[in-house]
Amino acid sequence: MKKHQAIGLFDSGIGGTSIWKEVVKLLPNERTVYVADSKNAPYGQKSEKEILELSIKNTEFLISKGCKLIIVACNTATTNAIEYLRNTYNIPFIGIEPAIKPAALYSKTDAIGILATKGTLTSKLFEKTANEYTKNITIIEQHGKGLVELIESGKLNSDATKKLLVEYLSPMLKFNIDHLVLGCTHYPYLIPQIKEIIGPLVNIIDSGEAVAKQTKTVLEKQLLLNDLNIKPNHQFYINTKKQVLETILRDSLVNYKLTELDF
Ligand code: SIN
Repeated sequence: MKKHQAIGLFDSGIGGTSIWKEVVKLLPNERTVYVADSKNAPYGQKSEKEILELSIKNTEFLISKGCKLIIVACNTATTNAIEYLRNTYNIPFIGIEPAIKPAALYSKTDAIGILATKGTLTSKLFEKTANEYTKNITIIEQHGKGLVELIESGKLNSDATKKLLVEYLSPMLKFNIDHLVLGCTHYPYLIPQIKEIIGPLVNIIDSGEAVAKQTKTVLEKQLLLNDLNIKPNHQFYINTKKQVLETILRDSLVNYKLTELDF
C-alpha cells in the first residue's frame, strides 16, 4: 500500500527540519522518516563527489525504510545530487532550490541578497537558476561559512553567530537589497537574529512552504497521498548526539521517535 508509506527527508543535519515542519503542517496525515547526517555536516564545504556519495547513502537508507517519496531537505545536496538521484531511483524526489525566482520577481530595488553554502553557490544548478531569473537584477551572493556548524551545536544566540551574521549581511545592505534569500535549510533557525541586522524593510525568503506545496502536488498527481485520517508517527535518525534535534522536536506536537544511529 504505497500511499500509506512514509515521506522520507534527509539533510546534512538538523536544518532540514525547517522544511519538515512545513510538510507536517500541510500534510498532517503523512508519516515521515527524517535522516540527519550531522556527523558529515557541513556538506557545503565538501566536493561534488562527496556530496553525491552522502546523498546516495541517505537515499538508500530512506528507501530501506520504505519511503514513497524523498525530499532532499538540503540545498547543497539538491544542487549537487538531485539530478543523479532522479535518474537512478524509481521514486519521486523533491529538491530545495534557493528561492531566487520570487525574490527577483518581486524586487523593487532590483537588488537581492543570497546567503548560502559554498557548495550551493558554486553548483551548476545554482548558476543556471541565477542566470535565468536575475538578468536585470544585482545579486549579492554570500557564503555563510561557519553558520551550519554553529546551528548544529545549538549556538543560535551566541556572540559568534551574531558576529558572523553582521559580517555577512551588512555589506548586502549597502547595495540596497529588498529581498534576502536563505539558500540553506539551516538558516531559517537564525531568522530572529537576521531580522535584527537587516531590519523590517528587507523580506526574508525561505523555501519551506513552497516545498511542502510541491510535495503535496506530486503526491496527488501520483495517487500517493495518504487518505487515512490518523495521527501519524514520525521517525528521526541522527548519527551524532540527539540533544539539539530533541530541543527542536519537543514543541512540535506530533508523535515522534528519535534514534541515535551510526548510519
Ligand atoms: C551544509 O551542510 O553545508 C548546509 C546544508 C544546506 O545547504 O542546506
